Amino acid sequence: MPRKKLVRFQDNSVDSLVIQPGKEKFESVRKNWSTFFGNINPITLELACGKGEYTVGLAPHFPDRNFVGVDIKGNRLRYGAQAAKEKWLKNVGFIRGIIQNIYEFFEPHTIEEIRIIHPDPRPRNSDARRRLTCPRFLKIYQELLIPGWIIRLKTDDADLFAYSVETLKQEWRTILAQTDDLYNSPLLVEHFDIKTHYEQKFHEKWRNINYLKAKK
Ligand SMILES: C[S@@+](CC[C@H](N)C(=O)[O-])C[C@H]1O[C@@H](n2cnc3c(N)ncnc32)[C@H](O)[C@@H]1O
Repeated sequence: MPRKKLVRFQDNSVDSLVIQPGKEKFESVRKNWSTFFGNINPITLELACGKGEYTVGLAPHFPDRNFVGVDIKGNRLRYGAQAAKEKWLKNVGFIRGIIQNIYEFFEPHTIEEIRIIHPDPRPRNSDARRRLTCPRFLKIYQELLIPGWIIRLKTDDADLFAYSVETLKQEWRTILAQTDDLYNSPLLVEHFDIKTHYEQKFHEKWRNINYLKAKK
C-alpha cells in the first residue's frame, strides 16, 4: 500500500468518527447509535459514500437528523471524517465495512432514508449481483428501512439507471420521481449543490446525471 494511503488508513483506527470492527467503539455503537450521537434522531445512510460528500454536505441542513456514510475504503472515509471534524458536525458518523453486512450495525426498520450516490456501474452481466440496486441489495435495504421511507439513487451511468428503474419497479413497484437529466430538473433542489468526487469527474465530461427516488 502506498505510504500516504497507509498513513490515512492507520489514522482511521484512532478517528472517533469512523466505526469499524475491531475498534474500541464498535461493540457499543453498533445497533445503539444513540450512544454515538447522543440522541435518537432519524438516520440517513449514504452507501458507497467514498469521501462522504453527501453525509458531510447534508448534515448542516438537517441538524435534527443523523447521517452515516458507509464504504469499505478507509482512506476515502478519512476525508469525510476530517471534513466533519473541521465543520464541528455532531450529526455525522462513518462505518468502514461492506454494505452486504450493514445489518450488523442497525436494528431492522430503523433507517429513514438511504442515498446511493454514483455507485460502481458493474456493467458485466456476471457482475450483476454486485450492483447496489440488484434484488439482493434491495432486500437488505428493505430490511433496514422504516416502512414507507425512501431510497435515492444518483448515477451518471445510463445502463445502471435503466437496470435500477426496472429492478425497483419489479421488486418495490413505487418510483416516486425520476429524471435522466438532473441538472435540468426541478429535482435538483433535493441535492443542495452537493457534487461528489466522482460526479465532478463525470460533469467535466458533460455526462447527464440520472436520479430517482423510490419507496417500498
Ligand atoms: C464510484 S465510487 C463512488 C464514491 C462516491 N459515492 C462518489 O460519488 O464520489 C464507489 C464506492 O463504492 C464503494 N463500494 C463499492 N461496493 C461496496 C460494498 N459492497 N461495500 C462498501 N463499499 C462499496 C467503493 O469503495 C467506492 O468508494
